[in-house]
Amino acid sequence: MTSSSLPPGLRPQPLALDLGGRTALVTGAAGGIGRACALRLAAAGAQVRAVDQDAAGLAALARQAERAGDLPGTVAPHVVDLTDLDAAERAAAGADVLVNNAGLQLVRPIEEFPPEVFHTVLTVMLEAPFRLIRGALPHMYAQGWGRIVNVSSVHGLRASAFKSAYVAAKHGLEGLSKTAALEGAAHGVTSNCVNPAYVRTPLVEKQIADLAQAHGIPEERVLSEVLLKDSPVQRLLEPEEVAEAVAYLCSPQTSFVTGTSLVLDGGWTAH
Ligand SMILES: NC(=O)c1ccc[n+]([C@@H]2O[C@H](COP(=O)([O-])OP(=O)(O)OC[C@H]3O[C@@H](n4cnc5c(N)ncnc54)[C@H](O)[C@@H]3O)[C@@H](O)[C@H]2O)c1
Repeated sequence: MTSSSLPPGLRPQPLALDLGGRTALVTGAAGGIGRACALRLAAAGAQVRAVDQDAAGLAALARQAERAGDLPGTVAPHVVDLTDLDAAERAAAGADVLVNNAGLQLVRPIEEFPPEVFHTVLTVMLEAPFRLIRGALPHMYAQGWGRIVNVSSVHGLRASAFKSAYVAAKHGLEGLSKTAALEGAAHGVTSNCVNPAYVRTPLVEKQIADLAQAHGIPEERVLSEVLLKDSPVQRLLEPEEVAEAVAYLCSPQTSFVTGTSLVLDGGWTAH
């Protein structure tokens, strides 16, 4: 489902944004939110470096960008496994916009959570963003402009049972983002998080079976009884809505917005 299948009144109208001449690096670009971000930033004119370990997914994204035909920018696939932290840092050199988005999830009680998976989640979702920011900052500082957008989550602000690694990584990402904001302010570099609740992507679809097992309920009850249980707005978010929030944080309207978290959670954290 794309945003075009949202009811007309809910479809996001793209904000006017000109990233012509800018390079934007998006991690996890083969997946749901990353793909939407790559296409959105290319639609704003950016030369997008689409980073992911999934070569086939990146090739599909590049074909989608070509089919779109009228994109003012470009989308170039870069196959990188972000657990290779040196490669991650190198990939970010020269980027004007950095979207730290790649992620993974495992739903398991702490006492059954494999330590090696905990380590991988923290590496991809916290240490790689640190290395990517580290790789991007010299160019951003030299030109006095840069935009860092970290795709965090409601789980950067709230915990849920059985998601120890994910919640720990996202809480860490919030701290990293704020620190980058403090250090970047004098150099024209902003750093912010976007914090979606559940988005209609493979990452969510893949955890439905695990959540059913962890909570002891059938899969068809997971959406209403687990995923949307705390959401006053009773629907999943669409990837294009998250991409629009990312675009907003790259716009001139938000040059004073830094060190903050833009929450798209249908009211979840208002509880
Ligand atoms: N889907 C949601 O409900 C939701 C909600 C809040 C936040 N988020 C966050 O949004 C981001 C994107 O999630 P999504 O739902 O689009 O997931 P997704 O699974 O569709 O995409 C994630 C992408 O990250 C890539 N990736 C994972 N490990 C990698 C590695 N080692 N090296 C390179 N790439 C790697 C995957 O290949 C995939 O393309 C994640 O950080 C996630 O935590 C998602």
